[in-house]
Amino acid sequence: MIGSIPEEKIQLMRDGVDIVGLISRYVSLKRTGSNHVGLCPFHAEKTPSFSVSAGRQIFKCFGCGLGGDAFEFLMRMEGLSFVEAATRIAGEMGIDLEPRQLSSAQAQQREEKERLQKIAALASEFYHTQLLQAAEAEACRQYLNRRGYGRTSATEYQLGYAPRQGSALAEHLRQQGANLEDARRLGLIRARDRGEGDYDLFRGRLIFPIHDLSGRVVAFGGRILDAGQPKYINSPQSDLYHKGAVLFGLYGARQAIRQAEAAILVEGYFDQLALARAGFTHAVATCGTALTSEHVQLIKRYTRRVLLLFDSDQAGRKATFKSMELLLPVGIEAAVVGLDAGEDPDSFLHTQGPEAFAARLAAARPVVEVYMDECLTECAPGSAALAQATRRILEVLKLVADPLEADLYVQELAQKTGLKPEMLRQQLGQVQAPAAGGSSARSAQAAPRGVSAPAVARVNNQDPQGAPVLPVAKRQASSLTPAEAKLIRLLIFEEEVRQQVAHQGVENFFVDAALGQMASEILYQLQDVVAGQEVATLQRFTELYARLPQPLDYDPAEYADAGEQMLEPYRKKAADRRRRAMLKKQS
Ligand code: CTP
Ligand code: MN
Repeated sequence: MIGSIPEEKIQLMRDGVDIVGLISRYVSLKRTGSNHVGLCPFHAEKTPSFSVSAGRQIFKCFGCGLGGDAFEFLMRMEGLSFVEAATRIAGEMGIDLEPRQLSSAQAQQREEKERLQKIAALASEFYHTQLLQAAEAEACRQYLNRRGYGRTSATEYQLGYAPRQGSALAEHLRQQGANLEDARRLGLIRARDRGEGDYDLFRGRLIFPIHDLSGRVVAFGGRILDAGQPKYINSPQSDLYHKGAVLFGLYGARQAIRQAEAAILVEGYFDQLALARAGFTHAVATCGTALTSEHVQLIKRYTRRVLLLFDSDQAGRKATFKSMELLLPVGIEAAVVGLDAGEDPDSFLHTQGPEAFAARLAAARPVVEVYMDECLTECAPGSAALAQATRRILEVLKLVADPLEADLYVQELAQKTGLKPEMLRQQLGQVQAPAAGGSSARSAQAAPRGVSAPAVARVNNQDPQGAPVLPVAKRQASSLTPAEAKLIRLLIFEEEVRQQVAHQGVENFFVDAALGQMASEILYQLQDVVAGQEVATLQRFTELYARLPQPLDYDPAEYADAGEQMLEPYRKKAADRRRRAMLKKQS
């Protein structure tokens, strides 16, 4: 992976790339005057409003408003990060992007990661070959057959089989001359407490390889072949695998997600497989963890609509509403696909088939609506329970990113509860008190240079004249507390802090959803950035940049060793606050 891209090379690419040629691969363009026009690939349209200017090296859609340079086009189209897009363009233009100098720590990190990748790939090969060839794997092949998967699927998904014998992988790796210590770091093998050698993590299991966005194997899930326990074993977290940042199946589903303009989110490996096989190729699975804001960032690269398809049990419902809290603030539309009690997508497809499933998809209901109904069931009109439920719903409505949409829900809530919409709006305003009090002065200060007044006003959720647009305000960086601003700066300027937060999960540090969202975006955009290029990199993302604390400066002396020291208490505090919030919700 490229660590740093020198500014002059970026300039070289920006000026020199054949933007018309590049975009023509995705959009059929016609020349009109000095521009080229075509149908916008980012929204559905029948008459072309998408225009490319070779002279200015930019694209712009007058229908949906999207525009930018070749980098931005590739990032959106392919869901790439800036560095990934730049790497591609550089490759085509024959520009050598080898970083000028990686710090020795960075060079070492990169090398270690590559070594780990090699081990994971070796292991995946091994498991896959076992599944296809080993006599012992017959039971596993039959198991797959019973569930409807033959050799083709096994190859397509690179499914594998881990032999029962306790150290088959360890031995194989040793024979291959692989570094066993690396395999231990991936958790694939473990040194025996007593005696010689290592034993394997996965034994006698069907293996699902888990890929990153470049299609490299980073981890595995292993299913037992009978009714034994545990049903699944998964690779532990490692330098290669951050559970909260990987979605099973995403590598193969990316294009389909963009085309379908939605991602189906399921719980299990087999759910993902079953959907893909039935033609619903835009599904991804969370691999047994709760959805995280990093997941959400990943999804947002490809679509703004998520169909939540968790098992229809109590745990599934909980997961659905937890996911809702992460999706709403980033403006992803979330809808719930209902299945019958006890069904998961895999079993549903088996019993009822793809057409019935398509009908369920089409009947997906906005998650907020489902939440409202769930809160309001069995609340007698005028009861205290109803007031409670209404408050819980308002809490969720304040997460809705689009004020107009939030207001539509307010009206719906008014209808369902018999309460007056004005009253609900007022209450909604009050739930949001933290964003109001005295934040406008601070936000004016916080506005980055070069951002026009209306943009600042919008950040503050007011119209340019200063009148509140609606009492619904998404919490913005303008209301960062000093401690939060400090943490954001640390996150931007200290790679170690970024790693720690990424590893432990953004949620553990940022309770506030909007702030957590900002942190995830920062983590995402700054991955692979080289020290010193952070601000320059962030400036390219104007929407994000406008929300960051200003001035965006950082005096390492002031933060000397602060990373470790301040993160830990912050994390504890955040956990405390979250616990309290949860207790409050339950009571
Ligand atoms: N899971 C896990 N560890 C477990 C159980 C489940 O990691 N002990 C994860 C797996 O990613 C699994 C998902 O949670 O795919 C959903 O679990 P579950 O619904 O129990 O399994 P299914 O995916 O339905 O698997 P199957 O159809 O084979 O029973
Ligand atoms: Mn299942």
